[in-house]
Amino acid sequence: MPTQKVRVRVPASTANLGPGFDSLGMALNLYAWIDMSISDNTTIHLIGDQMNGVPADKSNLIYKVAQMVFEQAGVSHPELDIAMYSEIPLTRGLGSSASAIIGALAGANALIGYKLTQDELFQIATRLEKHPDNVGASLFGGIVVAFWDGHRAESIRLEPDVNLEVLVAIPAFQLSTEKARSVMPQQVMMKDAVFNLSHSSLLVAALSTGNLGMIRYAMKDALHQPYRAPLIPGMATILEQADQYGALGAALSGAGPTMLALVDARSERKAELETFLKETLLKEGIEAQTLWLKPSAEGVTTSQLHEGEADLQALVQGEVLT
Ligand code: HSE
Repeated sequence: MPTQKVRVRVPASTANLGPGFDSLGMALNLYAWIDMSISDNTTIHLIGDQMNGVPADKSNLIYKVAQMVFEQAGVSHPELDIAMYSEIPLTRGLGSSASAIIGALAGANALIGYKLTQDELFQIATRLEKHPDNVGASLFGGIVVAFWDGHRAESIRLEPDVNLEVLVAIPAFQLSTEKARSVMPQQVMMKDAVFNLSHSSLLVAALSTGNLGMIRYAMKDALHQPYRAPLIPGMATILEQADQYGALGAALSGAGPTMLALVDARSERKAELETFLKETLLKEGIEAQTLWLKPSAEGVTTSQLHEGEADLQALVQGEVLT
């Protein structure tokens, strides 16, 4: 018997963590919610101003991804009621499209009684998004180490250290992943490849052993950040100097433009670091919103909604989403 109505909560994600280009991701405690139910007529309700311009018909990404789940599971549910609300800013390097894909996959799968496995969802999501670091983090939570070889994605999830905190500075402009990838070279020097594999390996080892002090040496990249820096004025200074202001390490979040600093939660220099990030961007004429986040140990979650439970719109207005 299919579930009547499900609510999905899916975390934002940050990809790359510096050297782990397309392979390292972390879920963050900034969320999107999707309510989904099988219906007689499709309705798509996108809540909040930031959803302006997102299609609300059957060309909607969530609708289309849900249909992929049904198709793979061999069932047919062409009409859906979908509502979505998201705290995750769009096109800023915090995995908003990955969260929509994972939310849609998990919601549709819950509606049909979990016919597909987590691994099947991961494979579909990676084929769609191409970056297993974002979708893996939103799906599994925590820190995800992953690859995609064009056929299969594989990943291992790491538990984030309890003292790891994340400061993000979200510039007031959007940067598409397509543009941020177009500035990268097709070929790289062997020394840059070696630089990244050694730093990325060390970063994974530091994160998995809780060696927070090693992050400042490991969180450096030669493959994508140097090429992307001109797209985000102030980024080079932040990467170079953030550790002098108390960060464990700093990186471009995904394809940007959000800048991210990893911080020891016990640090007494948080305000100083936040001011440094904001002022460095502001000197370049870029307004940025800063947020203190934690890794989200939980990935996507689904729950069944019962008759009479508040809909998403009511919850958003009441600001009681958890
Ligand atoms: N790893 C990808 C990139 C993330 O840096 O281009 C894009 O979401």
